[in-house]
Amino acid sequence: MAEGASPVDRCDVLTIERPDPCALVLFGATGDLTRRKLMPALYSLAVQKLLPDRFAIVAFARQDTDDAGFRAEIQNALRTHAPSLPLAGEQWDGFAKRLHYLRSDLDDPRGYAALKALLEGLDRKEDLRGNRLFYLATPPNYFGDIAQRLGSSGLVCPDGPGHCWSRLVVEKPFGYDLKSARALNATIREAFHEDQVYRIDHYLGKETVQNILVMRFANRLFELLWSHLYIDSVQITVAETLGMEGRGAYFDKSGILRDVIQNHALQLLTLTAMEPPVSLRADAVRDEKVKVLRSLRAFDPAAIALDVVRGQYVAGDIDGKPVQAYSEEEGVSADTHTETFAALRFWVDNWRWAGVPFYVRAGKRLPTHLTEIVLQLKEVPDVLYARMECMDMHPNRLVIRVQPHEAVEIWMSAKRPGQAMRVQPVRMHFDYAESFGKAIPSAYEHLLLNAMVGDTSLFARHDEVETAWELVDPVLRAWHADSRPPDPYFAGAWGPAPEHCLPCDNSRRWWNPDEVEAD
Ligand code: BG6
Repeated sequence: MAEGASPVDRCDVLTIERPDPCALVLFGATGDLTRRKLMPALYSLAVQKLLPDRFAIVAFARQDTDDAGFRAEIQNALRTHAPSLPLAGEQWDGFAKRLHYLRSDLDDPRGYAALKALLEGLDRKEDLRGNRLFYLATPPNYFGDIAQRLGSSGLVCPDGPGHCWSRLVVEKPFGYDLKSARALNATIREAFHEDQVYRIDHYLGKETVQNILVMRFANRLFELLWSHLYIDSVQITVAETLGMEGRGAYFDKSGILRDVIQNHALQLLTLTAMEPPVSLRADAVRDEKVKVLRSLRAFDPAAIALDVVRGQYVAGDIDGKPVQAYSEEEGVSADTHTETFAALRFWVDNWRWAGVPFYVRAGKRLPTHLTEIVLQLKEVPDVLYARMECMDMHPNRLVIRVQPHEAVEIWMSAKRPGQAMRVQPVRMHFDYAESFGKAIPSAYEHLLLNAMVGDTSLFARHDEVETAWELVDPVLRAWHADSRPPDPYFAGAWGPAPEHCLPCDNSRRWWNPDEVEAD
């Protein structure tokens, strides 16, 4: 939350659960995620007084430093990544003294023994009751090993009423394909049971993503439209202007399908398509999401090209500045076939969505930074205005803008003022910043707080992750077997050339914001 401590009112107090005393153990604590996201979120929670009074953060990492060095490093990082929070005085001092540093290799048993001793000491000193949140922000190849070492070192305490609790937060990527995701789930299960595991998809922590359910299930208005009866098609776009930013070596092994679509975009799809859950309990919500994933039609490996577009950017312009081709980025192999853009047509084969295509696309180096869900409504019967000349008729659209400029928009037709009968599209607009006038908390604030209070609803369950892999695996395999390179697109364009456009059939097209404005 940019401006730090905005006041918490009575109803906030009733609905924000205060976590138990606990220690947060951060593996990979000297990495980029800790500096850019986790520490700003934790400190923002501290400033808002949402952390428990009795609380400690233990950083577990290889770097040669100590408590004082780590505190200084974090203070520095916060200057860059949370400049609006107070970085001196009582609030900072109170937070800094809760930061502890333990130097160890991630696979050194002595490190885990030292961690146990440190945590037991903190339990005695700060009365943390043995409650532990283990956060894995390390490279993914360590996830399973750390989970096992925590188990075998006696650091996991059984959950249950009256007991201390232990929880494991696992960053993405969770697996590389179905097989590795299953294997990781099985390894983790040897030390933690499912209710103790919090798989991160940071999109679930975004305020606007959480609002999808409120919008759908706290308003009569939208739910009436929400089915094949009125919706023609759904589009989900996760567009970024950024290229590799030093992550080329990671991304080249991953690609946009694994990096963004298997997780973030499919989460947006399930929240858009799911049935009302029987309650807001975590498993009730997750049951419905898994049902959507299971209803998604499997891709036919022999006809992947009909439903999937694969692209890779070549040199182009972003915001008027020239940028290099993907294959020239640092860490990327020169003959790479990794996709930096993908678009897929999904079919949700259930009663509600029969016949409604869900188009999903994500890409790097696209013209604008935008995450959006667009529900295109069916056209009105072709009788009155659509038959007249000079009418600029478009289907109604409901747009959920996840980021940036978080908003919900309805595009509809209106009469242009004047003596002539002219129809043109206009926009009704709900803007978060304008309506609430307060900064939106970061996704990681929501996620960390939810993990501390033991609410798994914003985290992916094992079957959710596995079913999502099951869907994308055949596409990955088909691409792997295909010796042709991905279709090129210029950096700064909306993906490969129009002949590769998926929704360009009948009355459908991608609703790109720049083109929409020009309507
Ligand atoms: C991450 C991906 O999970 O999500 C990145 O690894 C991507 O490649 C990022 O840039 C997008 O997240 P956000 O919150 O910036 O939309």
